[in-house]
Amino acid sequence: MNSLLRRVAPLAAAAALLAAASTAWYAQAEAAPDAKSSPAPDAKSVERGRYLARIAGCNDCHTPGYAENGGKVDEKLWLTGDRLGWQGPWGTTYPSNLRLVLAKYSENQWVQVAKSAQYRPPMPWFALHDMTEADLRAFYRFVRWLGPAGEPAPAYVAPGRAAAGPVVAFPSPPAAK
Ligand code: HEC
Repeated sequence: MNSLLRRVAPLAAAAALLAAASTAWYAQAEAAPDAKSSPAPDAKSVERGRYLARIAGCNDCHTPGYAENGGKVDEKLWLTGDRLGWQGPWGTTYPSNLRLVLAKYSENQWVQVAKSAQYRPPMPWFALHDMTEADLRAFYRFVRWLGPAGEPAPAYVAPGRAAAGPVVAFPSPPAAK
């Protein structure tokens, strides 16, 4: 199996489960802008956040070419989102540019969003719910330390609509008997 397939096969099973469990793919938390400042990124948090981006799968999807290139992507490009779409019964989703998204939140807002938001597949939002608050804060500090960069990811495309660029297509669930 090539690396992309290895990445997709377990996800396809997870997505099928999700598809069966819920049709409410998306309940994104909208946080209001917050005047409160966030603590400056300290070296220890930045290192922990970098570690999490590497081992928690965030880079695999949110960094262009990361999984395909064995993780050899310049850190400058990390978490800038991807134009490779993920297509399935939920439509086509694109890994968001987290460098831009996290810049919109204060650290406290991020913790709130990460602990409650649900996103469409294949985003493992449940893994964000399971992360400790300390890890969520470290991840945030690392991403803010990297700073905003890149363009927003392409917009979500509704089910049955054609996506403009390349997609990873998940198989449709079998028809009901
Ligand atoms: C299997 C691919 C995949 C992995 C792994 C993954 N993501 Fe995602 N992520 C996505 C996709 C696709 C979306 C867009 C979902 C949507 O449109 O609803 C997304 C959306 C998000 C969003 C919503 C951003 C916004 O636009 O408001 C956040 C936050 C996020 N991911 C954080 C993470 C973090 C942190 C990790 C690592 C712990 C991670 N993701 C791992 C694919 C992935």
